[in-house]
Amino acid sequence: MKNIKLSIEKAFGFVSEQNVDAYKTQIATANAALHNGTGKGNVFLGWLNLPSSIDITHLSDIENTAKILRDNCEVVVVIGIGGSYLGAKAVIDALSNSFDWLQTVRKSPVVVYAGQNIGEDYLYELQEMLKTKKFGLISISKSGTTTEPALAFRLLKTQLEEQQGKAVAKNLIVAVTDKARGALRTLAVQEGYKTYVIEDNIGGRYSVLSPVGLLPMAVAGFDIRQFVDGAVKMEKICGLETSFEENPAAQYAAVRNELYKIGKKIEILVNFHPKLHFIGEWWKQLYGESEGKENKGIFPAAVDFSSDLHSMGQWIQEGERSIFETVISINESNYIKVFPTSEDNLDGLNFLAGKRVDQVNKMAELGTMIAHIDGGVPNLKIELPCLNEYYLGQLLYFFEKACGLSGYVLGVNPFDQPGVEAYKKNMFALLEKPGFEAETKAIKARL
Ligand code: PA5
Repeated sequence: MKNIKLSIEKAFGFVSEQNVDAYKTQIATANAALHNGTGKGNVFLGWLNLPSSIDITHLSDIENTAKILRDNCEVVVVIGIGGSYLGAKAVIDALSNSFDWLQTVRKSPVVVYAGQNIGEDYLYELQEMLKTKKFGLISISKSGTTTEPALAFRLLKTQLEEQQGKAVAKNLIVAVTDKARGALRTLAVQEGYKTYVIEDNIGGRYSVLSPVGLLPMAVAGFDIRQFVDGAVKMEKICGLETSFEENPAAQYAAVRNELYKIGKKIEILVNFHPKLHFIGEWWKQLYGESEGKENKGIFPAAVDFSSDLHSMGQWIQEGERSIFETVISINESNYIKVFPTSEDNLDGLNFLAGKRVDQVNKMAELGTMIAHIDGGVPNLKIELPCLNEYYLGQLLYFFEKACGLSGYVLGVNPFDQPGVEAYKKNMFALLEKPGFEAETKAIKARL
C-alpha cells in the first residue's frame, strides 16, 4: 500500500533547504513534548495516539448505530459546529458522488448539517424539507452548551418527536458529547438516547477520528475501518522513531514556519477537485484555531481550482507577495472520462480528443504551479495516490500531527481557542441572557 507524499522542494527557491533543516532540533523537541505530554495544552493530547488505540469493538458499535440510522432514515441531520462537524463533512463530501443528493435510488441516507450557523432561512428550509422525510439526528457537542447546535437541536428534536412520536424519535437520536458535563449529556441521559463520549483530552478540531467524525461517516456508508487504518499508518510514519527527513509532518511544520519567518503570512490550501472543498474548511479551522493567537500565526485560506483561478487566481499571481500554497493533488481519479473527437472541430479542441479529463486537469495543476512559482509563490504539494477512506485517514492525521508540531515551533498552545469566546460573551449580553446583566448594560452603552 502506498502512502500520501509531501514535496517541499518547490519552496527552496524562496527559503533555503539548509534553513528548513535547521528546524530539526526544534521539531524533535516539539515532537518529544507532544509524546511526553510536557508541552503547552498537554491536557488535550488524546488525539495523538487515537488512531492506534481504537479497537474493533468500538468501531463495530459505531457501525451498529449507523446501521440503525441507515435502516430507518432517508435523511440524517448532523448537528454541530466547528470541530463537531467539519471533519465529518470534509470526508463525506470528498468521498460522495457530487450529485448524491439528487439520486432517487439510494443505499445510504442523505447526510445534511445543522447547528453550524444561525441562519433562519437555512433552518426554515431544512425543517420544511424534513416534513416529508423519515429522518434521524446526530447531535454533536463536546461542551454540550454551544448555542448554535443547541438551538438547532431544540427545533429538530421537537419536529422529530411530532412527526414520529417520542418513543420512536428517541431511537433515532444519537448524542456525541462529554462524558459527564453539559446540557446535551443531561438531556441524553434523561431521554435515553444512544450516546458516544468525546474524551476530555480530545479538542473539537482534533476529534475527526472519534465518534464525532466516524459515526456520520459510517451513516453515509463509508468504510471507517479503512479511514482509521490510514490514520494508524500515518501515526506511525509521523512518530518519534522517524527521522526529521522521513517525517512528513516534521517537514511540513518546519517549512511553513520558515516561510512564515520570511514574510509568507498566508497559506493557501489548494485543491483541483471540487469535492475537496470541505477538506479546506476543516484544515482552515485546524490551523486557524490552533496557531492564530498571541498576535501570531499563518492565516489559513483555501481555494478550489480551477474555478478560483478565474477569481482569486489574479491575486495569487500578482497580489501582495505574502502567500504560499499547499496543493492537495490526487494522482489517480476514480473514474475515466475521455474527450470525444468532433468532426467540425468548431471549438478547436480536437487536440484534446482521446485525452482524459484528468490529463487536462493535471496540466492545469502543473501550469498553475509553474506560473505561481514564477510569480513569487512558494509551492508545497501533498499527493494522495487516489481519493479513498484510507488516504483521507492518512491526510487528516498528517495535518493534525503537523499542526501540533508547527504550533509548538511557533511558541503557541495549539490546543486552546480562547479567542472564540469573545463573540459569545457579546452575543449573550446583547440577547440579555440571565447572568450577563452587567455585560448587557456595558455593551448597550456602546451601541
Ligand atoms: O475546535 C474546537 O474546539 C471548536 O471549534 C469546537 O469544535 C466548536 O466550538 C464546537 O464546540 P462544541 O463541540 O463544544 O459544541
